[in-house]
Amino acid sequence: MDVSRYDRVRAVQWRGDRLALLDQRRLPFVQDFRTCLDAREVAAAIADLTVRGAPAIGIAAAWGVVLAAREVQAADGAAAATALEPALSALRAARPTAVNLAWALDRLSVALPLWGGDWRERLASEAAAIEAEDLAANHRMGLIGAECIAPGSGVLTHCNTGSLATAGFGTALGVIRAGVAQGRIARVFAGETRPWLQGARLTVWELQQDGIDATLIADAAAAHLMRSGAVQWVVVGADRITANGDVANKIGTYALAIAARYHGLKFMVVAPSSTVDLATASGDAIEIELRSGDELLSVGGQRTVAEGIQAWNPVFDVTPADLVDVLVTERGAIERPDAARMRQAFGAA
Ligand code: MRU
Repeated sequence: MDVSRYDRVRAVQWRGDRLALLDQRRLPFVQDFRTCLDAREVAAAIADLTVRGAPAIGIAAAWGVVLAAREVQAADGAAAATALEPALSALRAARPTAVNLAWALDRLSVALPLWGGDWRERLASEAAAIEAEDLAANHRMGLIGAECIAPGSGVLTHCNTGSLATAGFGTALGVIRAGVAQGRIARVFAGETRPWLQGARLTVWELQQDGIDATLIADAAAAHLMRSGAVQWVVVGADRITANGDVANKIGTYALAIAARYHGLKFMVVAPSSTVDLATASGDAIEIELRSGDELLSVGGQRTVAEGIQAWNPVFDVTPADLVDVLVTERGAIERPDAARMRQAFGAA
């Protein structure tokens, strides 16, 4: 079955001399591309969520380095690596939690000194490879994850993990696309994902482009939905998975995992191996991005909270590994991930 036909959106588009990013702050009603001409503009677009989602920000950053290279004169890759250091640092600092950003930049930084006079072309090829490998990983994860789901199941997802958040097809949303295409998934529910509303503004819109029906719920309705029996799986993506299998993902994921275990539902995490961070021992060591409280104090630019109120806005949380039933990467499915199973699967990464 050709599941890739369920995939119509491309958020990160390299146009030969510029990077076009589908502005996710304006979706679903305005579909507008923001053009970045240098690494500073790419770093700003990552920080302000024009482009978002762990793999997508890694891919955008890689193209940001390609743009930075246009401002650098260097005879070989080693000289270029030194000259590109400020751009690499600025891109790396754009967002802290999703490891894919640092992973993509590290991949380029490690390769650069090995290249000769053709370093510019090799850099562009490497950025293209990062993007192509992500799309291939997503297609593979879609099939691996869907296989775990019994026909006729209902799933609940969180945040946006689709084509908008990746090179295409998506991680958790890729499993949902594949599961729907195979007739395994009969019902899709998406949490609205406060405060930035990735679920409400992006996920249900993205699925609508493919003709996949999805029902939006308030985040606070999740436990009630689980109790109703309409869903058998919670399927989410990840921003960083540590050596012991802990999972950082969009705020609210941890609460979903607890509620899923309580109600006897299965909890699946879907992420490419570029999201696995074996250098970090456990979720306690992950830097959780804190964004402005303003995201909580207003809706659509309209203030909804009395003046003078303070807000705390951590935008990710950590789900302990023992709440994860299945971790799907392009390398396969790991049941009940723990340090030993992570080492076995990714130790040679
Ligand atoms: O703040 P965001 O929108 O970048 O957060 C995105 C998420 O948390 C996704 O669930 C995660 O990146 C996995 S997407 C493939």
